[in-house]
Amino acid sequence: MTQAAQIISFQDIKDTRAEDRKAGGLAMDQIKIRGGNRLNGNIRISGAKNAALPLLCTSLLTDTPITFSNMPVSLGDIKTLSAVLAELGTDIRLIDENTMELGTPTLKSKRAPYELVRKMRASVLVLGPLLGRFGEAEVSLPGGCAIGTRPVDLHISALEEMGAIITLEDGYVKAKTEQGGLVGADIKFAKVSVGATENIMMAAVLAKGTTTLHNAAQEPEIVDLGECLIKMGAKISGLGTSTITIDGVPALHGCDHSVLPDRIETGTWMIATALTGGEVTLENGRLDTLTALIDPLRKAGVQIEERGDDIFVHRNGKPLVGTDIMTEPYPGFPTDMQAQFMTLLTLCQGAGMVTETIFENRFMHVPELCRMGADITVQGNSAIIRGVDTLKGAEVMATDLRASVALVLAALVADGETTINRVYHLDRGYEDIVKKLGACGADIRRAKE
Ligand code: UD1
Repeated sequence: MTQAAQIISFQDIKDTRAEDRKAGGLAMDQIKIRGGNRLNGNIRISGAKNAALPLLCTSLLTDTPITFSNMPVSLGDIKTLSAVLAELGTDIRLIDENTMELGTPTLKSKRAPYELVRKMRASVLVLGPLLGRFGEAEVSLPGGCAIGTRPVDLHISALEEMGAIITLEDGYVKAKTEQGGLVGADIKFAKVSVGATENIMMAAVLAKGTTTLHNAAQEPEIVDLGECLIKMGAKISGLGTSTITIDGVPALHGCDHSVLPDRIETGTWMIATALTGGEVTLENGRLDTLTALIDPLRKAGVQIEERGDDIFVHRNGKPLVGTDIMTEPYPGFPTDMQAQFMTLLTLCQGAGMVTETIFENRFMHVPELCRMGADITVQGNSAIIRGVDTLKGAEVMATDLRASVALVLAALVADGETTINRVYHLDRGYEDIVKKLGACGADIRRAKE
C-alpha cells in the first residue's frame, strides 16, 4: 500500500449523491458541442466498465486484497458499486487514478440497499459471491429500467439449483444456503445472459463440487472475470465458449489484475472518427474483441488497421454507405453499440436497417436523432435509417448511457450547436469524454444548465 493510498468511503459517495439530490435528483451538467470539426489525434481507451463491475465483486470472495490496474475509477457506475461493496464490508483503497485495491476481511452487512441498487442494476452481481462465501445475502430487486424490464430470474433459478433458499420480500431478494453452503450443479440457462453467467461463476468458485454452465455468455468481459478468478485460485475451464465448467475450491486469495480495455468505448470513438472524417489512433484498444463491429464499419467505408497495441481509424473522404446490423449475444453485434451505429447510418448514402434482439425498448435515441434531422422509421424491433445530407444541432436528452453517447456522436457532425442534457448518463460509462474528444479537435465543453 502506498502512502498516497486513500480510502473511498461510503460517506464520500453518499455526499456526491446528496449534491445530485440538491440539483433536483439529476446532475444538472450539460455538454455543448459545436459540430463540424474533424477528429485528429490519439485517444487512450479506458478499462472496460462492464469488465470492471464483476471484477470488483470478486473482492467479496477473499479476505486478502486484490489490486486492479487499468480500472476506470472515475466512472459513476464504479463509484456506485464501490459504495455497495463498502456497505457490505469491503475495504477499498485508491492507489492511483487507475488502480484500486479491495479485500473483504469480514462481512459487515449482508444487505445491498435499494437506494444504491436502483442506481445501477449490476449491483445484483454481489448476490453470487456473497452466497458463495458467506451463505447469505439480501439484494434489492433492481426494478424496471429505461431499456426494458430486465428481470433477474435466470440469476435466481440458477442459485436455487445450487441449493440456495430464496424468497422475495419487500422488494428484496433474500437468499441463504443450508449449512455446508452452495453445491455444484448442471445449469442450462434458458437465455444467454452476461450478468447471470458472471453471478453464477462467482457463486460456483467456492461451491462444493462441479458446476457446469450451459448456454453461458461468451463476452470478453466474462473471459476477463474468469481469468481473474483463476489467478485467485479458482478452477475454471471453457471460458469464451458456451459451456463453462467450475470446480469449487475451499478458499481464494488476492492477486493483481489489469482490467480489459473497453471495446464499447473503442467502437464509439471509431464511429466518431468515421462520422467526422480525420485520423485517430485508439491506444490500448483490443481489435480482436470487436470483430462483429469491424465488418459492418468496413462495409460502410471506414478504414481500420491494427498497429501494434493501437488501432488506427480513418475515413478516406468517400461517403459512408448504408449497411444492416442485428444485435446478438457475443460474438454477434453488441447491443451496446447499436445506438452509435444508428447515428453513423443517419448520414450514409442509401439506407441501413438496425434490428435489436437483446432488449425491448432500446430505441429511445430515435426521436432525439429525428429532432436533429435524421430520417428513421421504427417498426417493432427494427429501424430503417435513410441517410440525410446533414444533421442540425438541437437541445437533446437521452435516458440511457449508449443513447446519450449516440447523441454526442450526432452532435460532433451536426451543423451548429447541440446541447446534451442529463450528462450523468455519460458519466456512468465514459471517462473524460470532454478531454478525450477535445484533445482531438472537437469543439466540446461542459456547462451548467
Ligand atoms: C450486460 C451489460 C450491458 C449489455 C448487456 C447485453 C454489464 C454491467 N452490462 O447487461 O451493458 O447491454 O449485458 O450485452 O455488463 N434476462 C432475463 N433474465 C435474467 C437476466 C437477463 O430475461 O435473469 C434478459 C434481459 O432482459 C435481456 C437479456 O436477457 O433481454 C440479456 O441480458 P443480460 O445479458 O443479462 O444483460 P446484463 O447482464 O444486465
